Amino acid sequence: MTETAPQTIYLKDYTPFGFQVDSVHLTFHLSPKATRVVSRIEFTPQPDAKDKTFFLHGEQLKLIAAKIDGQPVSPAVTPQGLTCDAPTEPFVWEAEVEINPQGNTALEGLYMSNGMYCTQCEAEGFRKITFYPDRPDVMSTFTVRIEGDEKVLLSNGNPTGSGEGWAEWHDPWPKPAYLFALVAGDLINHPDRFTTKSGKDVELNIWVRPGDEDKCAFGMEALIKSMKWDEDVYGLEYDLDIFNIVAVDDFNMGAMENKGLNIFNSSCVLASPETSTDANFERIEAIIAHEYFHNWTGNRITCRDWFQLCLKEGLTVYRDSQFTSDMRSASVKRISDVIDLRGRQFAEDNGPLAHQVRPESFQEINNFYTATIYEKGAEVIGMLKRLVGDDAYAKAVALYFERHDGQACTIEDWLQVFEDSTGRDLSQFSKWYSQAGTPRIKVTDDYADGTYTLTLEQSTPPTPGQPDKDPRVIPVAVGLLGQNGDEVRETEVLELTEAKQSFTFEGLSAKPIPSVLREFSAPVILERETTNAERAFLLAHDSDSFNRWEAGNTLAKESRIAMVLDGAAPDADYLDALIKLVRDDSLDPAFRSLVLSPPSQSDLAQTLFERGHTPDPQAIYDAAETFAQTLAEAMTDSLPRLYADTTVQGDYSPDAASAGKRDLNTRILSLLTRLDGGDQAARQYADADNMTVQNAALASLLKAEKGAEQSQTFFDQWQGDRLVMDKWFGLQVACAAPAKAAGLAEDLTKHALFDMKNPNRFRAVMGALAMNQAGFHYAGGAGYKLLTDNLIALDALNPQTTARMCAAYQTWKRYDDTRQGLIRTQLERIAGTENLSRDTSEMVTRILN
Ligand code: ARG
Ligand code: ZN
Repeated sequence: MTETAPQTIYLKDYTPFGFQVDSVHLTFHLSPKATRVVSRIEFTPQPDAKDKTFFLHGEQLKLIAAKIDGQPVSPAVTPQGLTCDAPTEPFVWEAEVEINPQGNTALEGLYMSNGMYCTQCEAEGFRKITFYPDRPDVMSTFTVRIEGDEKVLLSNGNPTGSGEGWAEWHDPWPKPAYLFALVAGDLINHPDRFTTKSGKDVELNIWVRPGDEDKCAFGMEALIKSMKWDEDVYGLEYDLDIFNIVAVDDFNMGAMENKGLNIFNSSCVLASPETSTDANFERIEAIIAHEYFHNWTGNRITCRDWFQLCLKEGLTVYRDSQFTSDMRSASVKRISDVIDLRGRQFAEDNGPLAHQVRPESFQEINNFYTATIYEKGAEVIGMLKRLVGDDAYAKAVALYFERHDGQACTIEDWLQVFEDSTGRDLSQFSKWYSQAGTPRIKVTDDYADGTYTLTLEQSTPPTPGQPDKDPRVIPVAVGLLGQNGDEVRETEVLELTEAKQSFTFEGLSAKPIPSVLREFSAPVILERETTNAERAFLLAHDSDSFNRWEAGNTLAKESRIAMVLDGAAPDADYLDALIKLVRDDSLDPAFRSLVLSPPSQSDLAQTLFERGHTPDPQAIYDAAETFAQTLAEAMTDSLPRLYADTTVQGDYSPDAASAGKRDLNTRILSLLTRLDGGDQAARQYADADNMTVQNAALASLLKAEKGAEQSQTFFDQWQGDRLVMDKWFGLQVACAAPAKAAGLAEDLTKHALFDMKNPNRFRAVMGALAMNQAGFHYAGGAGYKLLTDNLIALDALNPQTTARMCAAYQTWKRYDDTRQGLIRTQLERIAGTENLSRDTSEMVTRILN
């Protein structure tokens, strides 16, 4: 392989391709080590093109033959692609290349997973299949012929013919190459049908390896619900005769929205009560919806270039969160999304990897499939909807589909439909796309003569490449409560547009208690000096369930921070309020479970850091332990009853109500385990008839260091199931005490079933280690060394997954000099690795700077 210095690509350099692609015909002669791909592509030169070079991307391809209009040509080939003299009139390009799916451990392009052929082309994998203008703004219809011995041969679009050893597919919808897919294997389908609102009959299939056919029913239900929901809520109908989903064991990401042929990481589609937890079921439902929704937001309207990734991802995440809110509890979904946002996106936005929702440069686009593009991208849509209102949002989105169907678009196109349909100027709003970093809003208030004044002051800290930030428009939803807990002003959206701005509320008989940023109306950090008494008041009375939870969460954080900094005992008032809430049967169990869930240790570390302290992961861990122990002891009398009351009887069902109850039950069990030494957990483990309670019992036992026997029986029971084995690997590391986590993770990497080539297995162990804050950062740096050894080894096989995992180091500058020194050594070790991939090199460079 030829070495080239990593190249930076800029948004400002965008130039359209100088040729239109009129049609693509591909023939695949499948063979594990030497697949032949024959392409026949019609090009029309664009007379007005600025760049007339006929350049086709192509990587790791063996060019066998190339022709233009039937005449052999000899293009100039580099490791990135080829250039060739091209006619000025429409012409036909034909090429034959050879590729090696078996040797493809990067899992990008055409590769093999457990004996089946599959593809992953987003973002730039198609260039590893054949020579092509592999860019999202080049769209064409595809006709595909697959020749192979496998029983099932699939591609995009509708089937147009098949016979012994071959199948043909035609996709009538023009698409970019990143949406191309091919699957071939001895697969079994779980079939169903769907009739669209205009009466079109669609064949649905979930394709799996033999043995997994009993794990498809839930995914199929989720697909049908998604199809119906998109018709009902967005008026969007499916547009082919067939929709296929395939489960693949080796996959870098969650899933992929290839036109008519979605490919899923098997962990994101296969579900059964015995092998999947409630959390798995919920995630599967959401991901199936996400990929299906891409059919319109991503496929029918795609991105002009990869800088616009949030155009499809932010919008589609927003849509799948709306779907989950409708299918389950909207308030529980909102709280969970904010926990996730703070855990992943805020960490990114406040460290060396901070980037804009629409970045302006990159080296490797795969490094930008981030929480900022996806989750903050979705938050931006949510703010836009809140600012313009629900009806205006619906109108603008309808205009978007009407105006841009079949096009490759930009964020400007998206904002323009809102400007045109509402008359609103969104230039200040667009800063949400162009400025990185999490805004801070400082809140102060004042009351005099019946008038309450709320003053909001915004600022955004510097991020790499962006020292100064302008004020943005921020929707801040506010309600006011009276001293008795009644709402004296209903929720109103304040539009903060200035650096500092005051809002008044008149005609109040006494100073109200404000409930600010209801529903978490903007992805910001609120800074408000207030008393624990006021927080406890909101925890008891706020009518906005997000802020009610938030009040409890803030109390939980402040109490732990006082424990860490001053050696304080757990805050007694907070404990009382918490216990009251957990015992309150009138409240939704899922909500009680969220109130009971501790603030993340990473979040505490970040807060301490921002307040000028150096976080000590061990001290944060100890505070969490002490808090939980104190809580358990204070609840000694009620825990057994609560455990019994929240135990779900009868046959397992993954519905939201049962799942919420089980979630609370799991938290109660973990407290109970602190008192009974694991007796109840052992009983629960022995009696378990579904994975949610089996997994919960094992977790409690492992945490108490009492689970050796159950861990062994779990292994014996499930060693034949890859997805359950991922749980077994991950749970042990996640539950390990800080001093033991790295050693245990290292042992697990030597286990016969550890397979670095399988991203799920690698993440199960290394991801769990990175998430175990006190374990990963345990004094001495064994965790850092282990992770680094594994990252370096994996980079040679799978750059994409390696690069993503480097983010474990993104918070390194929070910590003390010793830890920073240890981490720097490891980062430099990665950076100094010979033949390091472009993916990992970009990540490490950004983290180090
Ligand atoms: N578009 C996919 C999704 O969000 C993600 C695929 C990303 N793959 C990658 N290799 N970067 O549903
Ligand atoms: Zn997506």
